[in-house]
Amino acid sequence: MPIITSEAAIKYLCEGEIVAIPTETVYGLAANATDDKAIAKVYSLKNRPQFNPLIMHVDSIEMVEKWAVISKFTKTLMKEFWYGRETSISFVLELKKNHPLSLLALAGLDTVAVRRPNHPITLNILSQISFPLAAPSANRSNSLSATTVAHVLDGLGESIQVIDGGACSVGLESTILDVTQDKMKILRLGAVTKEDLEPFGEVDHGKYGEAIKAPGMMSRHYAPQRLLKMNVLKKEEGMALLGFGVCERVDLNLSMSSDLNEAAANLFRYLHELDREPFVSIGVTPIPDVGIGMAINDRLRRACSEE
Ligand code: TXA
Ligand code: MG
Repeated sequence: MPIITSEAAIKYLCEGEIVAIPTETVYGLAANATDDKAIAKVYSLKNRPQFNPLIMHVDSIEMVEKWAVISKFTKTLMKEFWYGRETSISFVLELKKNHPLSLLALAGLDTVAVRRPNHPITLNILSQISFPLAAPSANRSNSLSATTVAHVLDGLGESIQVIDGGACSVGLESTILDVTQDKMKILRLGAVTKEDLEPFGEVDHGKYGEAIKAPGMMSRHYAPQRLLKMNVLKKEEGMALLGFGVCERVDLNLSMSSDLNEAAANLFRYLHELDREPFVSIGVTPIPDVGIGMAINDRLRRACSEE
């Protein structure tokens, strides 16, 4: 049985093994972030391009302070978004010299992305270990992220050890915010939006054309195997139709009541479900481009891209 307890997970993680862990966004493939060998296993299991750095998962600001620079401003944001609102945001910070983190996990950058996963099981594990967990999403590179244990096993095989923390409540990867410059810069959109951040200062969106800081910004990403089309109003021959709100002839509906949070939580699960025969393509009806709807549309655009 690949499903394990938190106690077993702690033991495996301390021994340099990898474990799939639940978070509120998507399942993560976790390893001791200070152990290169363990990190190498993560990359190979994911088939991940080696230049793609991993997010460090921590349970406290104090843990991060040991190896990354946290300005007063960033600390305010962390307190507000991690502890106060308990939302899903990763911060890109400058590394301190002599940090203990695996260079492989950092992919050679002098910055590091950190995040406090808002899931009781994983927070409890983090409170019992002395190292951060590097954890990319628990799926093979370029395929859909996993929001249930079944997806994890489906994508990575039955030999993976996984903790069952139920279906992820947010369902979309965290917002990634670069706070290493004067202006905050969103490198990847998630549940935390530009509007949420603007009261704290100026915010920019990273542009696709720029030097890739977050490979999550690569065009084709998060893709099902079947051709995906956005803003579909009418079902085509062989198409599975994924609806939002009140619509007819849909195969699945992201949210009958037009609730964007519910839609985000269902997105990857439903794309997984429709990515099968007899369907030849997947169509998605229009999703309002507001709030977390922007992140949903961002993921859908990447999944449509052929690059
Ligand atoms: O919600 C999430 O963030 C999930 C869960 C498991 O925590 N994790 C996740 O990890 O989405 P991953 O590895 O699939 O995506 C991490 C993204 C990548 O696009 C990576 O390039 C970017 O974070 N990243 C990591 N370190 C970075 C850095 N120093 N600067 C810029 N981007 C970075
Ligand atoms: Mg991913």
